Amino acid sequence: MADKPTKGLADVVAASTALSDIDGKAGRLFYRGYDIHDLAGRTTFEETAHLLQRGKLPTRAELAAYVDELHDGRALGVLVSHNLPEIASKQKPMEALRSLVSLAGADDPDKDSIAPDANLRKAARLTAQQPLLVAQYHAFRTGKDVPPEPDPSLSIAGNFLLQVTGRVPSQREAELFDTCLVLHADHTMNASTFAARVCAATLSDMHSAIVAAIGTLKGPLHGGANEQVMKTLESISPGNVAQAVREKLDAHEKIMGFGHRVYKTEDPRATHLRRMSAELAESTGDDTYYRMSKEMEEVVFESKGLYPNVDFYAASVYHYLGIPTDLFTPVFSISRMSGWTAHVIEQHADNRLIRPDSEYIGERDQKWKPIDER
Ligand code: SDX
Repeated sequence: MADKPTKGLADVVAASTALSDIDGKAGRLFYRGYDIHDLAGRTTFEETAHLLQRGKLPTRAELAAYVDELHDGRALGVLVSHNLPEIASKQKPMEALRSLVSLAGADDPDKDSIAPDANLRKAARLTAQQPLLVAQYHAFRTGKDVPPEPDPSLSIAGNFLLQVTGRVPSQREAELFDTCLVLHADHTMNASTFAARVCAATLSDMHSAIVAAIGTLKGPLHGGANEQVMKTLESISPGNVAQAVREKLDAHEKIMGFGHRVYKTEDPRATHLRRMSAELAESTGDDTYYRMSKEMEEVVFESKGLYPNVDFYAASVYHYLGIPTDLFTPVFSISRMSGWTAHVIEQHADNRLIRPDSEYIGERDQKWKPIDER
């Protein structure tokens, strides 16, 4: 007889990983042993993706080679190019990305292999392609033909802002968005990463695992929360934050962007995102959403003792950077692609099928009857 499950597998250790670690009590996050506070603002997203996928922070030469591989891996393939306009006209962003990554897999030269070297190449291609898929989707759905070509002198972060906003970002804007991508890259056994590992553990391929992860990140309790935070900020009048939040809490509504399954104190990523939101509020000359966020944070903590998670201040940061609200979760997927692919590599390298038990709570001893006697 199976034991009773803990709802939502809370506190269940579902895998061993060398990729990231969280100390929920102390509010600390590490990527392969590096404290996120040491990486944020000092290590680029490309360096972080290399760290997660290839096991080390790169030397300058290794980084140059990895960036060249990312550039070479940008080609989106024929199936994506032929279907993107139709998908952009019919599907919402995260649904579209679920379709587009699947189509990208069809044209991936390593699609039929899960060998370590093939997985490393696919990880780099997927990391390079995800921002382009989002930018091209956005271009087609806004009636433009295709976004500006990536500028080889810009990083993944800089090119994404260029392609989505249509203007070259300032160096500081590109740095801040790059830090956002570093902060979202990996986070132990979150729901979308777990989905990817369950899929990979059947020895299915990387693209299948990533499609499973995208479908999981889409949900509002996970990656979809950042968009909901922005919608909440836009739905409240700046002078009525405290009352509006209290009314939501009194109605037992979840306030998006708050609470976390693991962190019992401040999410260390929120610390950086709050500071970036304040900086962008000042530089854009409009601190409304930052001020509202600060007030929301105070009310939710005072009423429920809950802290902001990664999604809360990410919303105002992305808004200040000119990213459309319904692309906030796709942005999360751009960053987490580096972690998801690293987890698939890790799962395939030391695999056992992930197949937990379950507790049966249904009827027993049912007597069968022919259909006309039921
Ligand atoms: C991400 O797992 C990861 O690492 C995810 C992530 C990553 O990097 O991959 O960190 C990214 O997904 C962050 C979370 C984004 N989601 C949201 O912001 C949605 C709002 N948050 C909640 O739905 C909730 O906090 C969760 C889903 C994040 C965690 O849920 P749990 O651990 O299942 O907690 P719970 O829902 O059981 O809540 C425990 C208590 C309840 O109170 P009681 O009913 O016991 O009185 O806390 C309350 C909840 O009502 N609560 C909230 C709340 N979150 C928890 N109340 C109001 N607003 C909230 N946001």
